[in-house]
Amino acid sequence: MKLLSDLDVSGKRVFVRADLDVPVKEFTVKSSQYSGATRLTNLKNTIDYLYKQGASKIIIAGHIDRPEKPDPELSTKQLRFILEQILLRSVYFAQNLEKQVEGYLVLLENLRFFQGEEANDTAFAVKLLSLADIYVNEAFGNCHRNHASMVALPRLLPHAAGLHLAKEVDELSKILKGPQKPFVAIVGGAKIETKLPLVEHLAKIADFVLVGGELPVETKDKQMTFPQNVLVASLTADVKDISDESIYQFKEKIANARTVVWNGPLGLFEEGYNEGSREIAGSVIDSGAYSVVGGGETVEFLAKNNFLSKFSFVSSGGGAMLEFLSGKTLPALKALE
Ligand code: 3PG
Repeated sequence: MKLLSDLDVSGKRVFVRADLDVPVKEFTVKSSQYSGATRLTNLKNTIDYLYKQGASKIIIAGHIDRPEKPDPELSTKQLRFILEQILLRSVYFAQNLEKQVEGYLVLLENLRFFQGEEANDTAFAVKLLSLADIYVNEAFGNCHRNHASMVALPRLLPHAAGLHLAKEVDELSKILKGPQKPFVAIVGGAKIETKLPLVEHLAKIADFVLVGGELPVETKDKQMTFPQNVLVASLTADVKDISDESIYQFKEKIANARTVVWNGPLGLFEEGYNEGSREIAGSVIDSGAYSVVGGGETVEFLAKNNFLSKFSFVSSGGGAMLEFLSGKTLPALKALE
């Protein structure tokens, strides 16, 4: 993977593909205190680096959500002020791609408003190409998407991973390639189709995989069996959180761990069933293990409960983290080779 230090950006216009897919409404209420700001704060080091190295212009571009058509509620324009607070620079907004916008730091409109982005269309990538001389990917959270700004564009321009993306890949690769043992993985949340490959892959590397969230219900319904090192939680009577027995069993494994990776809340977090997650978070922190956590809901839960800063590394990826740890090659990372 090419790194920023491999490129000479001096005097060049740089396109930074950013992770702007954050819950925008939260920012109007809680400003940068909101945990979702991590994806935005991750941009700062790369932007500062480009500035110091003499880039002539920086274009920040990304998507929010899955718009079916342009929608003011999903416009990246709403992030302009929060980005100014984080980056400590003036940010100018560009609604369309045709008109060159004045200003050093330019924020483009939601890329998914444009036809061709999600189809990885080369013609759309060529439009983006006219804005820049160099491409930097700082959007780990979207690296599992085969989209024009992620895959087609870096193939057309000198490219590199941003500073945070490089760190993400380093940290998650360490988990896959040489975790300190005992290694315990915790998988919760819903969507069995995305979690199952993760559980199966991690079972080959980890000493224990602890499974909670909706997966215990779904795996029971489908009568699935797992290798012995996969411990599937039993649930409380109302099936909303893991049982006290499972909390005890999980804590016992976590206490001895030297590496822990966690994706997905263990209970039905949105309905307030977070006792299991709270207990498990405490035991991960107490274990002193090297701890990596990711996934929007898990990160949000930990941030709201003041646990997040006690984890060793917070991944900005939800689906991207799952696919990476499932051993898949992410298309946007491949495009940076
Ligand atoms: C994410 O938040 O996981 C990424 O931004 C990808 O979003 P998507 O699932 O809508 O493609």
